[in-house]
Amino acid sequence: MARKLASRFVAGETVEEAVSAAQELARRGITPSLDFLGESISAESEAAAARDVYLRMLDQMAAAGLEVNVSVKLTQMGLDISEELCHTNMTRILDKARALRGFVRLDMESSDYTQKTLDFFSRRLFGAYQDHCGVVIQSALRRSEQDIDDLIGLRARVRLCKGAYLEPPAVAFPDKKDVDRNYRLLMERLLLKGNYPGIATHDEKLIEHARHFVKLHGISSERFEFQMLYGVRRDLQTRLRQAGYHMRVYIPFGNQWYPYLMRRLAERPANIAFILGNLIRESVPGR
Ligand code: FDA
Repeated sequence: MARKLASRFVAGETVEEAVSAAQELARRGITPSLDFLGESISAESEAAAARDVYLRMLDQMAAAGLEVNVSVKLTQMGLDISEELCHTNMTRILDKARALRGFVRLDMESSDYTQKTLDFFSRRLFGAYQDHCGVVIQSALRRSEQDIDDLIGLRARVRLCKGAYLEPPAVAFPDKKDVDRNYRLLMERLLLKGNYPGIATHDEKLIEHARHFVKLHGISSERFEFQMLYGVRRDLQTRLRQAGYHMRVYIPFGNQWYPYLMRRLAERPANIAFILGNLIRESVPGR
C-alpha cells in the first residue's frame, strides 16, 4: 500500500525510470532536478554506492539530452561519518557536473544540519564550483533571514522552500502564517538581489505574489525559476510554464522512499484520503 502511495511522488526505483520521467517533463518544457533518495547514511560503503548512482545519473541525463541538474543530501554522502569522506564524494560528483556543465543543489535537512551544510557549502565547495552548486534555505527557520543575506552577499544560488522537518519552536516558527510571511519576505529579497533563485513552493498565493512582484520591479523571468515536487500540482506546473516562466520539477527516485513519502503525507494529510480513494476505485473490477 505504501509503495502504491509512493508512486504518486516518486518516479520509480532506477536511474532509467527517473531519466524517463524527466524526459516526459522536458517534452512539456519543464526542467528536472533528479534526487536519488537516501539520507543519514552511516556506512562508508553506502555513501560510496550513493555517490556512484549520482555519477551515473549525471552521465545518463547528459546522454538523454536533458539539462544536467541533481539534488543531493550531505548526510547521504557521509557527512555523519566524516566531513572528509563527504568532501571526497561531493568533489567527485561536482567534478563530473562541472565537466557536463551541470548543477548540483545541496538539499537542506533538519535544523541540526543547517549550520554544517552552510559551512560545508561556503567553505569547502563554493570557491571551487561557484557556478555549479547551490544550497537551500527554509523560511520556517528563524535564522533564515540572516542566512539569505549572507548567501546573497556571496552571489550563491539559493532555492527557497518552507521547510519539511518538524522543528522545535526555539529554532522555527510554530505558526504557519509566520512561515508564509517569512517566505514572502525572503522571496522578495532573493528576487531583487539574488543569483537566479529557485522559488520552490506550491502555494498559489505566494506564486501569485511573486508574479506580481517581478512585474512591479521589472524583473525578467530569465532571472529566477519556479520549482515544484514531482506529482504535486501538475496543473500549476503546466500553467506557469505556459505563462512563460522557467519551471523545474524535483524528481525523487530510489528504494529509500519511505521518509520522503512520510514528509509529503504530513504536509497534506488529504493526500492519504485522495490516493486511497483512487486505489480503491482502480481495484474495483470492471472499472
Ligand atoms: P504548503 O505546504 O503551505 O502548501 C501549499 C499548497 O500546495 C497546499 O495547500 C496544496 O495545495 C499544495 N501542496 C503542498 N504540498 C503538497 C503535497 N505534498 N501534495 C499535494 N499538494 C500539496 N524542504 C526541505 O526541508 N529541504 C529541501 O531541500 C527541500 N527541497 C524542496 C525542493 C522543491 C523543488 C520543493 C517544491 C520543495 C522542497 N522542500 C524541501 C519541501 C518544502 O519545504 C515543503 O515541505 C513543501 O514544498 C510544501 O510546502 P509548500 O511551499 O508547497 O506550501
